[in-house]
Amino acid sequence: MANDYCVLGIESSCDETGVALVRVSGQRLPELLAHALYSQIEMHQAYGGVVPELASRDHIRRVLPLTQEVLQACGKTLQDVDVVAFTRGPGLAGALLVGAGVACALGASLARPVLGVHHLEGHLLSPFLSADPPEFPFVALLVSGGHTQLMQVDGVGRYQILGETIDDAAGEAFDKSAKLLGLGYPGGPALSKLAEVGNPAAFKLPRPLLHSDNLDFSFAGLKTAVMVQAKKLAAAQSCAVEALPHTVLADLAASTQAAIVEVLVKKSLAALMATGLNRLVVAGGVGANRRLRDQLNLACGQRGVRVHYPELHLCTDNGAMIAMAAAMRLQSGIQEAGMSYAFDVKPRWPLDEIMA
Ligand code: KG4
Ligand code: ZN
Repeated sequence: MANDYCVLGIESSCDETGVALVRVSGQRLPELLAHALYSQIEMHQAYGGVVPELASRDHIRRVLPLTQEVLQACGKTLQDVDVVAFTRGPGLAGALLVGAGVACALGASLARPVLGVHHLEGHLLSPFLSADPPEFPFVALLVSGGHTQLMQVDGVGRYQILGETIDDAAGEAFDKSAKLLGLGYPGGPALSKLAEVGNPAAFKLPRPLLHSDNLDFSFAGLKTAVMVQAKKLAAAQSCAVEALPHTVLADLAASTQAAIVEVLVKKSLAALMATGLNRLVVAGGVGANRRLRDQLNLACGQRGVRVHYPELHLCTDNGAMIAMAAAMRLQSGIQEAGMSYAFDVKPRWPLDEIMA
């Protein structure tokens, strides 16, 4: 591989089509030239959640126009693409196949190598696209819709899982609680918006595994506790949960968010203590949560720990993180892009399978 090259990244694992182009120059941090995103949220809203078949069909419609948009935005053409990267997993099989198929077709027609990227590695390395990139080693708190993990990250591909959820992910706890409060999909942003006007101490909700002696999480019980509390309040007022007064729903939302955030913050601090590291990286959709950021900044500030986040618009799924993860893998020499276009996808793909 030459010293200077461009990597096109395609993300299509769930309900967002993302495309981006990054440039690699020697050992400098890869630079994002342009990225474009199309969110399917509005389409899925009518169904209260992601409909996989509709997601796949929409990725097909969006991916090539987005690619053109990205190339135009930075004055490049397809000929300037040296490597084509795509999300190989984990995610929805049909949705992943769209990105993989398009990436491999582009690679084959341009005679360029292709590389399948792990979606979570994309999230994990996305803070390197920010104006304040971290340095290795660090503790990572990965909080997406499907995953909640604490990791020690010593370099690209050098990840050690310190703890993870034994049932629901933090994003799932946001989404499921939001749904039962009648806030629709996607639940995380809706619940956190409502929580802004609520009292986080209004209801006493469980903090699962807060005092366990390991770094694992459990959020399934919290959702049940929210449901029991909401139903009790609704029964007292002889109304449906969604018809509860706005202030009550806001208090429930704020109390739910406070419970999730407290557990995430306490466990992150415990991971920093256990590893002796003084740098924390937060990645994944829940990393966009304002209260989580405020509480982490406060707790880490008091302990001399630096916290790094992806740019707010790169917290949720996007193509930039996929292009970036591919670029950093290539740059670190732990992987080469291949000229085989017989692609496969991995809807389930444990992160430890890609460790260097
Ligand atoms: O990383 P992501 O975009 O997709 C996955 O790879 O899963 O994360 C999506 C998750 C959803 O559960 C969504 O509700 C949550 O991130 N999320 C938030 C916020 N924005 C997105 N949760 C809490 N507060 C937010 N502001
Ligand atoms: Zn994601």
